[in-house]
Amino acid sequence: QRTAWLNGEYLPLAEAKVPVLDRGFLFADGVYEVTAVLDGRLVDSAAHLARLERSAGAIGIPLPVDAAGIAAVERELIARDSITRGLIYLQLTRGGTDDRDFLPRAGMRPTLLMFTQARDFLANPAVEAGMSVISWPELRWTRRDIKSVALLGQVMAKQAAAAAGAQEAWLVEDGFVTEGASSNAMIVDEAGTLVTRSLSNALLHGCTRAAVLALAAQYGVPVAERAFTIAEALAAREAMITSASSFVLPVTRIDGQVIADGRPGPITRRLRELYIAAAR
Ligand code: PDD
Repeated sequence: QRTAWLNGEYLPLAEAKVPVLDRGFLFADGVYEVTAVLDGRLVDSAAHLARLERSAGAIGIPLPVDAAGIAAVERELIARDSITRGLIYLQLTRGGTDDRDFLPRAGMRPTLLMFTQARDFLANPAVEAGMSVISWPELRWTRRDIKSVALLGQVMAKQAAAAAGAQEAWLVEDGFVTEGASSNAMIVDEAGTLVTRSLSNALLHGCTRAAVLALAAQYGVPVAERAFTIAEALAAREAMITSASSFVLPVTRIDGQVIADGRPGPITRRLRELYIAAAR
């Protein structure tokens, strides 16, 4: 039986309930975080908590528990649910009132929820097989740097990917890839440079992206933060995604076309190993 932490209380996840007038339900007025757990420990916790503070601050939702308090709850959930490999999901909404109204009231009490998900990242078959992605139009709003729970654009992209037999969608705006539906997108270009889009409101500032870029620099891989096209990705030596739920995974097909020899590339493998080693 899994445990939830909801507004200060631990309870069985299946029994955790939020009122229908909660603004998270009515307006998607909230933000979230997903943090990996490896060997029973949080991965990149400080970065995820900093991004939570930034997302919540951007929409004016106060954090009811400070970062240290949240990390303590997350560790308690890991212990209660005996998670060695998995994720912590955290959702913060503006809270509920007594009626539906676009304008939030002053002094609302936010809703804060956390629960775990067991998941064996290390045994992911995509590590050896590579992933297929589709290109898909960027249909989301323009503040993608805020980790909003309004995820319809992502859900539609994931459905389209699944219908095409792919695992992820790369979202394309004005001819350039912004990011994946739930990951950041990277390629190793023909010159051997690791390329990923620079940070802006157009994409989520991925915690794994930042860590992987730092590791690449340490390992001597040249890094360029710039936008790239699907055509460039198809001509690349390697392609990959990064996220808390996948770490680093090779992309070997885009829209059914094979990248390079169709096998995960050496830089992708190395960055994945380095990321996992640094997390341990
Ligand atoms: N998604 N871009 C988008 C749109 C994302 O949703 C995510 C993460 C990322 C990668 O960010 P990070 O490395 O900090 O996880 C990029 C999480 C895993 C999710 O929604 O489940």
